[in-house]
Amino acid sequence: MSSAEDSAMSIAIVFHSGYGHTAKQAAALQEGAGATATLVEIDPQGELSEAQWQVLDEAKAIVFGSPTYMGMVSWQFKKFADASSKRWFNLAWKDKLAAGFTNSASMNGDKSVTIHYLITLAMQHGMIWVGTGMMPANQKGSVRDDINYLGGFPVC
Ligand SMILES: Cc1cc2nc3c(=O)[nH]c(=O)nc-3n(C[C@H](O)[C@H](O)[C@H](O)COP(=O)(O)O)c2cc1C
Repeated sequence: MSSAEDSAMSIAIVFHSGYGHTAKQAAALQEGAGATATLVEIDPQGELSEAQWQVLDEAKAIVFGSPTYMGMVSWQFKKFADASSKRWFNLAWKDKLAAGFTNSASMNGDKSVTIHYLITLAMQHGMIWVGTGMMPANQKGSVRDDINYLGGFPVC
């Protein structure tokens, strides 16, 4: 496969995880996406290396991941988002596909605020947000472990 074809399919999963839960989500996503997905972990200081920024710049799709801390992304993720304004100035990420994920201790946990921040970030970059397209598991017989039990569409 040529490197052009490689980059045409490439997915970068950029995330911060303070205590490992979001890292587990990121790893599961990478496993599901296959060999073309690269994990890009934001460090405890909210920094990425130049090589990590390059992975994002070259990816066809960027998936954003952050834990929900106090009803929002972690400060480390926000620092990364603010630093991405350098790409925003010339719309370097325009038309890339975007998606996002979060997790929280409570089932609700105000995760939707975090997800809507990730959507706003993607929209500011001119990216194309991809939701789940999955119907909610809200039938009488639905149980907590059903996919999309919480009935979210941007993410479940
Ligand atoms: C500073 C802080 C703030 C948190 N705020 C929330 C919150 O608003 N809602 C919630 O349900 N859980 C909250 N939690 C729990 C985390 O969302 C949960 O433990 C998550 O799995 C942590 O992900 P991580 O291991 O990737 O850091 C908070 C945890 C921390 C450390």
